[in-house]
This record gives sequence, C-alpha cells and structure tokens, in this order.
Amino acid sequence: MSVGVERTLVLIKPDAVRRGLVGDILARWERKGLTIEAMTLRTMSAELADQHYADHVDRAFYPPLKEFMTSAPLVALVIAGDQAISVVRGMIGATDGRAAAAGTIRGDLSLSNRENLVHASDSAASAAREVTLWFPELT
Ligand code: TYD
Repeated sequence: MSVGVERTLVLIKPDAVRRGLVGDILARWERKGLTIEAMTLRTMSAELADQHYADHVDRAFYPPLKEFMTSAPLVALVIAGDQAISVVRGMIGATDGRAAAAGTIRGDLSLSNRENLVHASDSAASAAREVTLWFPELT
C-alpha cells in the first residue's frame, strides 16, 4: 500500500443483507473511489462476536447485539483508500440511525441503535486488529 492509503474492516450487517441493501451500500463506497480488497458472505460465530466486540462484551447491550450479529449471514470486507478509516466512518454516520445525519448510510437507511446496517473500524489500531481477525490471510 502506498503512503496515506489505509485498510479498514467493514461489516454489512445481517439487517442490511436481509433488507437487500448490500448493493446500495457497496455502491456508495465504490462511487467514493475506495477499493474493495477482500469480501465474503459468512455467519459470525459466537466466538468471533466475542473477539470482534471485545470492548463491548461487558455492556448491557451486548447480549442482544450478539444475538443479532450471529443470527444470519453478513458481508465482511476490507476496504482500502486514502484515509479509508475516517472516510468510511464518516460515510456510515452516528451509531443511532435515528440521530445519524442525512446523507450517511445509517442516516438514510436505519431507524435503529442496534440494527444500524454497518460496522467500520474506528481507528488504525482497531482496523489492524479487525482485519487480522476476519481476514488472517491478508496479514
Ligand atoms: P459502538 O462501537 O459504540 O458504535 P459504532 O458501531 O458506531 O462504532 O457500538 C457497536 C455496536 O453496538 C453498534 O453499532 C450497535 C450496538 N449498540 C447497541 O446495540 N446499543 C447501544 O446502546 C450502543 C451504544 C451500541
């Protein structure tokens, strides 16, 4: 990767797959000029959920979040581009779809604080950890 180019780990969550929004969401990142480096459809195991959400396992919202995230297939991908970590975070919007700004994925397409369609790494450290967790072959 050249200087300035970052990789970030993105999940298109089970609600988005169920609602048929995968193409719409992917198209936004493609139109922005970001690159899809890896992509797979899979169902998150309980073990992977606990690892992926290691910072949240003790939170009250975690049990229903885990139930939701492991309930059906999701699309996991690695997206690359100039400042991809912050650019993708900006494009997904605030956690709560009801509060997320119009124009963002959550702002346009979600009304929920849990079923909010997408996950994206929030820092360089999380991106490195999450890419390794989901796509060990890339590291
Ligand atoms: P968080 O890392 O705070 O948000 P983000 O996904 O915007 O980085 O939380 C992780 C996920 O946990 C969030 O996408 C949805 C879920 N969640 C809840 O279900 N309830 C809550 O109150 C919060 C804060 C998060």
